[in-house]
Amino acid sequence: MTDYRAVRGMVDILPQDTPRWQYIEKTLAAVLGSYGYSEIRLPIIESTGLFARSIGEVTDIVEKEMYSFEDRNGDGLTLRPEGTAGCVRAAVQHNLISTPQKLWYMGPMFRYERPQKGRQRQFHQVGVEAFGVGTPDLDVELLLLGRAMWRALGVGDLLTLELNSIGSPEARAQYKEGLVAYLEGHKTALDEDSQRRLTTNPLRILDSKNPETQALLAEAPELHAYLDDASREDFQQLCELLEAAGLEYRVNQRLVRGLDYYNKSVFEWTTTALGAQGTVCGGGRYDGMVGQFGGRDTPGAGFAIGLERLALLVESLGNGGEQSSDLYVVVADESAQKHALSRIETLREHKPAWTIQMHLGGGSFKSQFKRADKSGAAFALVYGETEVSNNEVTVKPLRSGGEQVIVADNQLVTYLSQRLSQD
Ligand code: HAM
Repeated sequence: MTDYRAVRGMVDILPQDTPRWQYIEKTLAAVLGSYGYSEIRLPIIESTGLFARSIGEVTDIVEKEMYSFEDRNGDGLTLRPEGTAGCVRAAVQHNLISTPQKLWYMGPMFRYERPQKGRQRQFHQVGVEAFGVGTPDLDVELLLLGRAMWRALGVGDLLTLELNSIGSPEARAQYKEGLVAYLEGHKTALDEDSQRRLTTNPLRILDSKNPETQALLAEAPELHAYLDDASREDFQQLCELLEAAGLEYRVNQRLVRGLDYYNKSVFEWTTTALGAQGTVCGGGRYDGMVGQFGGRDTPGAGFAIGLERLALLVESLGNGGEQSSDLYVVVADESAQKHALSRIETLREHKPAWTIQMHLGGGSFKSQFKRADKSGAAFALVYGETEVSNNEVTVKPLRSGGEQVIVADNQLVTYLSQRLSQD
């Protein structure tokens, strides 16, 4: 027999963890709705060229992390490594950008990375993209939205905001030249990866974790010295607005992000609580992308949250724990079960929000009560012979330790409504 296991880096989310995921997804969706963002649902597969063009040919993602394949027709397709490119594609295709748009999406992304805690090959993002606003008030809104989400989940104190402006593409090209000229002079002191990047993607050297490279960078030219006037002014306004809104941030001139589509502001929300994979959320402005995909020149900005990392943070605080039942239905025998089924369905119709578990598979009262206990239910509803013939049910508290009570069938909704709201 073949011993099948999940593919490396692809993770099952088990029933004991799904309540936390649902709690996070629901909370984020509610905050997004309250800021006027609408959900868009996008395909998981897009044309390979879409990603190569927008994310950049010489980025890690496109060079070595994409799950790309040819379909039966010979078309080059890729499991999406991120959501921005597909969202811009959809916005252009359906002409959504003729008026400003504020969109969000949620779902799995795929990157062939080395798996470790907080880093998977299939992972999940909630992404936010806004089109049609070129002024920094949008950037501020995106950052406030982030803060609102962290606060709603109770993890606000664990996350800090790092902010940078990487300027216009022209300013960045000039900075690249300055940086390369400086680093060429110290080439032998660079780590191997950075030496390679010197010719492919020099800005990524700023991200190097190597201490010697970091020491070299301390003397390197600074990005902000090369910024174009428009980017400089926007960044200043962004900082002023953030201060007015009381949102704390740290300017990090070495923050350049791993995707090529950004211009002007970029940012990351990071935590020290998760070890090496501390970036929970990243984003920025990408004013050139809509035009690049054939749409009318339209500014855009957004961010994406890594849900696995966010879930680890939420879990570390013990929030969003297990979902427990409200009621567990215990039956004496088959005829009691037959009687209980229709009554319980009626109860479910009256109270769809209650979690009611019917005991399945028979067994003694003792074993049924054991299950009821384990379910976390507040009350057991017991149908024995007497209850069946008298059209009543015994309500037995499982948590609060009070006395059990016999309730007539037609009083059950009222009685339980009171009891469940007290407990
Ligand atoms: P990104 O920085 O590549 O940006 O990914 C955003 C977040 O996804 C990361 O901060 C991290 O939390 C999570 N993440 C990335 N890779 C993995 C992985 N292998 N395992 C677990 N989590 C991961 C983007 O994807 C951009 N599309 C964000 C954006 C939207 N920019 C503008 N709009």
